[in-house]
Amino acid sequence: MRAAAVFPATKTLGIVPDFPEPRITSPKGVKLRILQVGVCGTDREIASFVYGTPPEGYEYLVLGHEAFGEVVEVGAAVTEFRPGDLAIPMVRRPCVAPECVACRMDRSDFCMTAEYTERGIMRLHGFMTEYVVEEARYLSPVPASLREVGVLVEPLTIAEKALLEAVRVQSRLPWDFAAYEHQAVVLGAGPVGLLGAMALRHRGYAVTVYSLDREPNRAADIVQAIGGKYYSSQDVTVEQLVAAVGAIDLVYEATGAANLAFEVLRALGPNGLFVLTGVPGRHGTTEFDTDAILLNMVLKNQCLLGTVNAGKDAFELAVADLAAFDGKWPAALRGLITGRFAMEDFAEPVLRPAGIKNIIEIGR
Ligand code: BGC
Repeated sequence: MRAAAVFPATKTLGIVPDFPEPRITSPKGVKLRILQVGVCGTDREIASFVYGTPPEGYEYLVLGHEAFGEVVEVGAAVTEFRPGDLAIPMVRRPCVAPECVACRMDRSDFCMTAEYTERGIMRLHGFMTEYVVEEARYLSPVPASLREVGVLVEPLTIAEKALLEAVRVQSRLPWDFAAYEHQAVVLGAGPVGLLGAMALRHRGYAVTVYSLDREPNRAADIVQAIGGKYYSSQDVTVEQLVAAVGAIDLVYEATGAANLAFEVLRALGPNGLFVLTGVPGRHGTTEFDTDAILLNMVLKNQCLLGTVNAGKDAFELAVADLAAFDGKWPAALRGLITGRFAMEDFAEPVLRPAGIKNIIEIGR
């Protein structure tokens, strides 16, 4: 079968025409026919050869970690899935270190050794191929009603994990969330930012998205459709943003732009939480008034939280929330998918991304 891969030694991208079709070898194995795979910034980093590692013994890495498929076969001990069901695979697999408490309890998203593997990213082949086999415990069911948008589950899990943690962290505050309207600022209007904005709106936050592109643009339309506000950083400074929003309770950062993050961190409101999800590139050093940042953080009881990947709880929540978004804002949700490509053309959206979410359509 075909698979879309990157070849680090020759710095090339190509289709592997004879990638072996996987077989179920354990009683808890589930075989999926891949329907769609999303492309994201991590794929671009891997395709630029600054990130990602092929599995041992391979000179290529099959790409794809935002996948969505249909069950075609199950192992003898699988009771959770049947052929015809839709399912979404998790990305990360645990390390083997006995002392890694996180991985030993199936929470490799908090892995303590950094020896984890990730499908399509780190030492495991990904999902940009026709069939994959997974252990049932790494799959979450997706209802048939979400067939058109199921590929958005994985990027949404990043926001879900962040918000699960945000609730826990902010439970330190001795009042009810409903005591006043909470102001959230989302940095970045890519898929992780926009899905995060939806998740925040769904939880009752007032949401302002701050991103590079000037209006009119599709992301700004989506923000307005969900009842949020959009500002372009080309027209509105961080000071003006803060003046418009008022005290910021939560910043959800989804750009990986370190300069912007620190500028907005300085403007976080009292008792605020700043959540970092974007993985920054290496852009050199910048000077910052670190005293002012620390002073603010202490005197205003602020928290800074980094988060990566997602556990099973976030996957299940993402599936439920995606159904809720689909009920509330069906056009905005579908509007996130701006490009559809055949597997043969995967290099195009990976190397020259345009629009919001590009997907590779593999099965129907
Ligand atoms: C993926 C995560 C992964 C992270 C770091 C992201 O693009 O969505 O699952 O943990 O990259 O490799």
